[in-house]
Amino acid sequence: MLNSLQAVRSQPLSLLQPYGLPTYQTAADAISDYQGDDQIYALYPRKVARAARTFVNGFPGNVLYAVKANPHPSLLQILWDEGVRRFDVASIREIKLLRNLLPQAELFLMHPIKSRKTIAFAYNSGVRNMAFDHADELQKILDCTYEAEDLHLHLRLALPKFRETSEVAMPLKGKFGAEGEEAVALLRAARRRVGKLGLCFHVGSQCLSPKRYEFALSYARELVEASGVQIDSIDVGGGFPVAYPDMPIAPMDSYFEAIARSLAANGFDDLDVLGEPGRALCAEGGSTLVRVELRKGEDLYLNDGTYGSLFDAGQFAWKFPVKLHRSRPPAPCANTIGFRFFGPTCDSADTMTGPFHLPADICEGDWIEVQNLGAYGQTLATEFNGFYSDHMVAILED
Ligand SMILES: Cc1ncc(COP(=O)(O)O)c(C=O)c1O
Repeated sequence: MLNSLQAVRSQPLSLLQPYGLPTYQTAADAISDYQGDDQIYALYPRKVARAARTFVNGFPGNVLYAVKANPHPSLLQILWDEGVRRFDVASIREIKLLRNLLPQAELFLMHPIKSRKTIAFAYNSGVRNMAFDHADELQKILDCTYEAEDLHLHLRLALPKFRETSEVAMPLKGKFGAEGEEAVALLRAARRRVGKLGLCFHVGSQCLSPKRYEFALSYARELVEASGVQIDSIDVGGGFPVAYPDMPIAPMDSYFEAIARSLAANGFDDLDVLGEPGRALCAEGGSTLVRVELRKGEDLYLNDGTYGSLFDAGQFAWKFPVKLHRSRPPAPCANTIGFRFFGPTCDSADTMTGPFHLPADICEGDWIEVQNLGAYGQTLATEFNGFYSDHMVAILED
């Protein structure tokens, strides 16, 4: 076990990169070893492994990792090593990535609207599970697979308004899904034409109440009853939350219990049950280490921002957990104040209002670890204005 930077440095090169990345015991070690000028992306393999175990052992069905949340090969490998065998992909590039890295993985193309090329490529790459939410998409899938008999198609439902709308931090509505009579007609039409048929939905990302899954499952039951057809599978989608400041969450077990209860109550427990967590498998396993370039009062100008890995901090004003790293004296003072962040680009939209609570004497040259960014963080980063980073490290500390 490597337990200090000295110990890490004294190992042969192959052991230096057990995750295919430069590996350090702590984030502070990674910062003090860094000679570059950009932000540093940190992967915490043990945190990713722990999240994977929570789902593999606790979720009442099969776990599909939603690759979009973070497609880094090292992270995908950790999930595989912990028993995740199924992956939700959306594009030809994601299919190629998985086929090259984890050829045994079962891939599910759960994007409801795909190009004909993507459908054909997926089928020829062994993908049999695909989502649809419209009669034309169903026909497209059938055309592009020559009406293959081994398809397993999943009708994506649009969920009706749930009374406690505030209980999901990032509602995913209005774009995908069939509702009501349209869904019933699609179920009947698809049942006649495909080998295996299921329902899927997404309750919204960062779902703060297990009740939404129960609501969605009883809605799915109503539609199945109305259609008079039998289904083979039910997919409860993603949406499982992660704790952020000001957003406390219920234990993950309470989600699993609510889903298991509701599956049984709605007569779905004999079906093939699937879930597609993205955020909950990888958010806590990733951080961005950013440097303070200038302080103006309570505003900190950083080398990463909303065009980098901090999109959600800007666009949705999410307050990610933050931690100061200062290696030189004086030690940071104990009292904290709330800061606003600005990213490095010239665009004034590159603003993150926070407030982010950090030691009151923070100054130029200090590093801040912005935590819980393993999902939809580095993945969303652009190269706008020439600000981006290729530097990613693994941190062994838990
Ligand atoms: C089809 C599908 N499945 C799963 C997910 C993962 O959702 P989350 O990260 O909220 O768990 C998404 C996210 O957008 C999605 O579109």
